[in-house]
Amino acid sequence: MEPEITVLRLGHRPGRDERITTHVGLTARALGADRVIFAGDAASRADTVQDITDRFGGPFDVETTESPLGVVRNWDGKIAHLTMYGLPIQEAETEIRAALDTETPLLVVVGAEKVPFAVYERADWNVAVTNQPHSEIASLAVFLDRLFEGTELTKEFENAERIVVPKETGKLVKEPEN
Ligand SMILES: C[S@@+](CC[C@H](N)C(=O)[O-])C[C@H]1O[C@@H](n2cnc3c(N)ncnc32)[C@H](O)[C@@H]1O
Repeated sequence: MEPEITVLRLGHRPGRDERITTHVGLTARALGADRVIFAGDAASRADTVQDITDRFGGPFDVETTESPLGVVRNWDGKIAHLTMYGLPIQEAETEIRAALDTETPLLVVVGAEKVPFAVYERADWNVAVTNQPHSEIASLAVFLDRLFEGTELTKEFENAERIVVPKETGKLVKEPEN
């Protein structure tokens, strides 16, 4: 069994961040995380990610919370906060992998506009995917790929209603055989 990986999306701004928050959830699911937690005002985004999970498979949990900072404060495990101001992922990744086990889950925190300083202080690692400003979706994707060392790319999803069959050209989607 692998350590459990949860992604927490902080700072969702209703209206402005709808697609980005959805894509944080979809990226977490596709690239091997076990769960995403959104703020309560992103509940409709949670429904969208849940819908994709129902159609394309899991297991993947989608939750909302009225207190995202409470999740950070009360987390019983390790925390990696993704920020352009942190230490380079290529220097931190080995230590992060070594610190995790089945009883030590990882919370991966991504922000939107400004992340409260308390998160920087509580995090076990403030991790940068380059020290250039870019995006929570991009940083999450690179982080998860480094964490899993590429193994997430061949993850099998269970209980899917539909499966995409890789094609050189065109699109092929089928229902699972049983
Ligand atoms: C629009 S950015 C805000 C950039 C912010 N000034 C920061 O602290 O990284 C929103 C989120 O994207 C992620 N992010 C952006 N650039 C990043 C980088 N180079 N490395 C890691 N995460 C990054 C962070 O999680 C950040 O909270």
